[in-house]
Amino acid sequence: MKFTVNKTISAQQKLSRKLVASKKTIAIVPTMGSLHDGHRSLIKRALKLADVVVTTIFVNPTQFGPGEDFKRYPRSAKSDLELIQKAGSKVVFIPKVQDMYTDDYRTYVSVHKLTDDLEGASRPNHLRGVTTVVTKLFNIVRPDFAVFGMKDYQQAMVLKRMVADLNWPIKMVICPTVREKDGLALSTRNGYLSPMHREQATALYQALRIARKLCMEGEERISVILRDMRRELHDLAPAGKVDYIAFTDMETLRPVTRIEKDTVVSLAVRLGSIRLIDNMKIG
Ligand code: PAF
Repeated sequence: MKFTVNKTISAQQKLSRKLVASKKTIAIVPTMGSLHDGHRSLIKRALKLADVVVTTIFVNPTQFGPGEDFKRYPRSAKSDLELIQKAGSKVVFIPKVQDMYTDDYRTYVSVHKLTDDLEGASRPNHLRGVTTVVTKLFNIVRPDFAVFGMKDYQQAMVLKRMVADLNWPIKMVICPTVREKDGLALSTRNGYLSPMHREQATALYQALRIARKLCMEGEERISVILRDMRRELHDLAPAGKVDYIAFTDMETLRPVTRIEKDTVVSLAVRLGSIRLIDNMKIG
């Protein structure tokens, strides 16, 4: 199959219809572009799952809040296409904002409860924007598999719930976070950090490692783990402002009162105007 870039919804629908009719399986890798090694690893995983990998690039306005960085979110279509082609994905879908959200657009998809805390509490409507756009992408691309990163932990769990609740015959595959050498989780927003903030950003990973180490030593009390994580963040990232540190059950996202099997610790920290998130399974 030759490398194909679909810029309209109808072109992608036509191709997906053809692929389905010829019994080819499809894996989707949804992205907002500005691709890095984290995205490359998602594409590589998708290639192992399906006959055809469709990578989508769409900076989705409905998941950005007022005052967030929708306008200045980096757009780099040329280098993105190169990365996608080199990684081996044969189809790219790049819809336009005005086609995805026409002037009379009125429909949103929300997942209840799982979106109340963590990112949901800090960024109202963000997850509703994600579930809405992913619903639209699924309907257009018609995937058998969908590949997301664990870096956006709550997003991944919310999307898994949505797929189960809406009875989509799509297998959700959640891939491990890809990190820089010093542990910082790869993210498009890392590029906005000043050199000083970039140096301090490694504190998120170090704090998570402390949580995991304590847990492995048998510590179950959240208050103790939290205290040591906060100390580490304070020491390594004095400029950082902690938005939240949360201990939750991996699938249900319910807060836990002691470390249990499948506990995930997640955190969000602001460094200057940049908000970074990360997480680790510690239970
Ligand atoms: O994780 C992202 O890049 C986005 O939230 C997604 C899933 C592509 C939806 O816009």
